[in-house]
Amino acid sequence: MALVTTKEMFAKALVSDYAIGAFNVNNMEIVQGIVDAAKIEQSPLILQVSAGARKYARPAYLLKLVEAAIEDTGLDICLHLDHGEDFEICKKCVDDGFTSVMIDGSKHPFEENIALTKEVVEYAHAHGVVVEAELGKLAGVEDNISVDERSAKFTDPDEAAEFVERTGVDSLAIAIGTSHGAYKFKGEPYLDFERLKVIHGLIPQTPLVLHGASTVLKEFVDRCNEYGGQIPGAQGVPEEMIREATKYGICKVNIDTDLRLAMTAEVRRFLIENPSEFDPRKYLGPGRDAIQSMVQHKIRNVLNASNTL
Ligand code: G3H
Ligand code: 13P
Ligand code: ZN
Repeated sequence: MALVTTKEMFAKALVSDYAIGAFNVNNMEIVQGIVDAAKIEQSPLILQVSAGARKYARPAYLLKLVEAAIEDTGLDICLHLDHGEDFEICKKCVDDGFTSVMIDGSKHPFEENIALTKEVVEYAHAHGVVVEAELGKLAGVEDNISVDERSAKFTDPDEAAEFVERTGVDSLAIAIGTSHGAYKFKGEPYLDFERLKVIHGLIPQTPLVLHGASTVLKEFVDRCNEYGGQIPGAQGVPEEMIREATKYGICKVNIDTDLRLAMTAEVRRFLIENPSEFDPRKYLGPGRDAIQSMVQHKIRNVLNASNTL
């Protein structure tokens, strides 16, 4: 039981039809819900921390929570920085003891993204830490944008091959149609599987990463709304599309929004049904349980990763 890198878990996932869930953590209840689920399902696990999470919880707390989770569950866990935007935050996380960092240079021109990623790879590898980079821009839901305009931001397969070769990065996040948050598609969901297959064919040894992979199950949106929420028109990636993607090199699947919806639906329900209750444990406990059920569902039914330890 230890903090581990993604090296071994990705090597196994790459040659199998399953992917590893990378779940965002912000507080103790979220960490506990996720690790309990991974333990029951006997799945490898990545816990990821965004810059926003570091700011909210403060770095030392999240690190200690993950160390506590390892001690408590006996699991090996990868602790990953999600969307590091510059060298400094990646260095800080490497120095703090993270085992994996993402340098997200996707907003920069190709050559700048390469230079920035190389700098992080050099530092991280010298400290035994693995690096994820991103190429292509995740689609946003925008009005009046054609399929062609949307696809123009997707990852170019030849650039992906050159990027991996020149940076020495350990895994690559690609853009094939997903986006962050609860509103992913206007109309029919569409992922560019042909593009994914070409990318995987060109760099078959490189684990690929799918961001924006929450499925935004209607049941949870409805439950939030039933108890006074206002989340109209939310739409995620269909579960079968995520399952399909795991067959073509997608080894890491990033999920945050679904955890937020599951926890919030439960906290809302509890507080509406128990208006005189004010002990935070009474509503955070059910929130934690909701995270656990959601993560078990993901691991078992979407990522196909149960019993892969
Ligand atoms: O990709 C972003 C993750 O969902 C983290 O979101 O920046 O609000 O913590 P955050
Ligand atoms: P979702 O918003 O779809 O959960 O994506 C999370 C993510 O990609 C974190 O990096
Ligand atoms: Zn992301």
